[in-house]
Amino acid sequence: MSKSVLVTGGAGFIGSHLVRLFVTKYPEYKIVNLDKLTYAGNLENLKDIEDRPNYKFVKGDITDLNLLRNLFAEHKFFGVLHCAAESHVDRSITDPLAFVTTNVIGTSTLLIAAKESWAGAYDDKIFYHISTDEVYGSLGAEGFFTEETAYDPRSPYSASKASSDHMVRAFYHTYHLPIKISNCSNNYGPYHFPEKLIPLCIHNIINNKPLPIYGKGENVRDWLFVEDHVRAIDVIFHKGKVGETYNIGGHNEWTNIDLVKELCRQMDEKLGREKGASEKLITYVKDRAGHDLRYAIDATKLKNELGWLPSLQFEEGISKTIDWYLSNAEWLNDVTSGNYQNYYQQQYEKR
Ligand code: NAD
Ligand code: TYD
Repeated sequence: MSKSVLVTGGAGFIGSHLVRLFVTKYPEYKIVNLDKLTYAGNLENLKDIEDRPNYKFVKGDITDLNLLRNLFAEHKFFGVLHCAAESHVDRSITDPLAFVTTNVIGTSTLLIAAKESWAGAYDDKIFYHISTDEVYGSLGAEGFFTEETAYDPRSPYSASKASSDHMVRAFYHTYHLPIKISNCSNNYGPYHFPEKLIPLCIHNIINNKPLPIYGKGENVRDWLFVEDHVRAIDVIFHKGKVGETYNIGGHNEWTNIDLVKELCRQMDEKLGREKGASEKLITYVKDRAGHDLRYAIDATKLKNELGWLPSLQFEEGISKTIDWYLSNAEWLNDVTSGNYQNYYQQQYEKR
């Protein structure tokens, strides 16, 4: 049996943690990382493992069927870990078509390439699609998303991810392609691009810039340390049932305002600032259009069937994350120079 695994989007935030875990934990696997290197992809995220003999990087687009056919023919992948996506809700509001292209057409193209290449010889093959809890829509004050919750996506991002999930299931039901899907809550940790709330606020606190809170800051997200997410993916990839969906989450809900205050508290201590100094940077700005109120995951199935549990408490995970950003100033400077400045201006100037 071939031991090659295709990871798509492995130069991004979650993908780079997944590549690192698989390259180091499974030296018998050859990990091929296919990434287009959009603004969100960064090979610096993989500097520590790029010379490993069982790792190979290929620059390319998941919408390119010929490229995918050639890769499948060359490497005879037994597994696909599909992370590549456009992933930021705010960008999906300004450019929905980019999300349809990569998330819907790209995922469909990848499914076609796997189906063609595997040609019905599905024993020991796995097409694993990494998805989000945002496909379930928005919760009120009560309740949790389970694997049975009906899809109700409300942003162009979540609608494109929901569409891709549907295509993956369609290939399972129609062609028996051996698929697995997981839907995870919000991740945080090292290498997180500073367009998302946590790294954006860490970056702004370091630079004494305003911390933009959308609306009243009452929206709730369920935060999970990224290394716990990729550990769950590892368990599901190897032990989860074909055709099944697993929800992944940390049972760790925070309103945005409380989360940002916790960041400020920890960073004041770490930066030796006066208590309360960073909180003064908090600035309420115009709300996100169609802003989902609350996400919260019920990960009971994953715990009961596969024994996965998050390993880190949030305060500890956030502390590790801040420490990483403080000791990787060069990474942060690199990703926030150039185009990031234009994005930031367009996104926040008129709020
Ligand atoms: P990211 O934006 O950090 O990285 C995406 C990666 O995909 C980048 O390296 C980018 O270059 C690459 N990419 C984009 N378009 C591509 C294309 N057409 N062809 C090849 N590569 C392409 O995203 P992330 O936060 O690491 O998310 C990874 C996956 O996990 C996504 O599918 C996302 O929906 C899902 N997810 C993310 C979160 C989260 O909190 N970040 C939570 C749950 C699920
Ligand atoms: P984000 O990190 O973009 O993740 P998602 O929208 O996928 O949950 O946003 C997390 C929460 O923080 C969300 O409720 C929107 C809010 N938010 C702000 O208040 N200000 C910001 O500048 C950003 C980027 C997000």
